[in-house]
Amino acid sequence: MRKVIVDSDTATDDTIAILLASRFFQLLGVTIVAGNVNYNQEVKNALFTLEYIGKQDVPVYLGSQRPILGNWRTVEEVHGSNGMSNWNYPEPNKRPEKEHAIDAILRLSKEHEGELEILAISPLTNIALAYLKDPSVVKRVKKIWIMGGAFSKGNTTPIAEFNFWVDPEAAKIVLDAGFDITIVPWEVAEISGSLNERDWEYISKLNTKLSNFFINVNKTLKEYTTKNQGISGSIHPDSLTVSIAHDNSIILDSSLKYVDVELCSKSRGAMLIDWYSLHKNKPNAEIVLKADGGKFKNLLFNSLSQL
Ligand code: RIB
Ligand code: CA
Repeated sequence: MRKVIVDSDTATDDTIAILLASRFFQLLGVTIVAGNVNYNQEVKNALFTLEYIGKQDVPVYLGSQRPILGNWRTVEEVHGSNGMSNWNYPEPNKRPEKEHAIDAILRLSKEHEGELEILAISPLTNIALAYLKDPSVVKRVKKIWIMGGAFSKGNTTPIAEFNFWVDPEAAKIVLDAGFDITIVPWEVAEISGSLNERDWEYISKLNTKLSNFFINVNKTLKEYTTKNQGISGSIHPDSLTVSIAHDNSIILDSSLKYVDVELCSKSRGAMLIDWYSLHKNKPNAEIVLKADGGKFKNLLFNSLSQL
């Protein structure tokens, strides 16, 4: 089985991405980074999720509790005050590891040299810091699958997607480091990673332990999306990214381009794609342009229907 780490700011859709990753791959660990909600709450959400899905043996590593440079804000309005749609879930017994996330990423890249893939579904702070500590990590990590960036429809500012907006310096460091990267931008998830009311009804009717978990953790996400993003349902960028990493045939169209990140001005966090190779920079990422939403849903529904 392919070996992965999930780097997560664990809330709502991140938890489903962790569930999918645990089914599709050998999940070596979950590293936590500042993003969606209070950092310690993200840790608790990850610990509970792994325990709930029967993967209590998967280690959780504590990473950066803030972006490298800028300030950011958490987004409880999207995910609920605890990041789990205010579900008052039982206290997890599982505890995080003592080893820091950055050291864990570097160690696992050595133990699984040439095989380790990173599912980066959060701000890229941990991965950037791991690279700054040991640039040779680039040669040992097989692939990084990044959920991040927006072509033009920012979900956090008019032009910036949340993961790139929280830590644009980290995004730029990772993009310029030389990793083999595939990016799943926000709009691709909006089109091919969203679930409508009918999908929600279908999931609810499954009435399995995992489908009930899905409903519980994503309620606030659905309310927010329906109220603010013109979709009567919910958008699942992290789960789509993990599904694409698992089954690359979900990618219907992609483009290899040089991707930069705006670090200043009102466009801070914007993804800047050199579409016409104007700056002669070597392409540094495959950007997913179109994805097969039907294949994504089938993978998700199939996973949630398992007892
Ligand atoms: O913009 C969406 C991304 O930001 C998702 O990964 C969500 O979990 C937040 O991290
Ligand atoms: Ca996330």
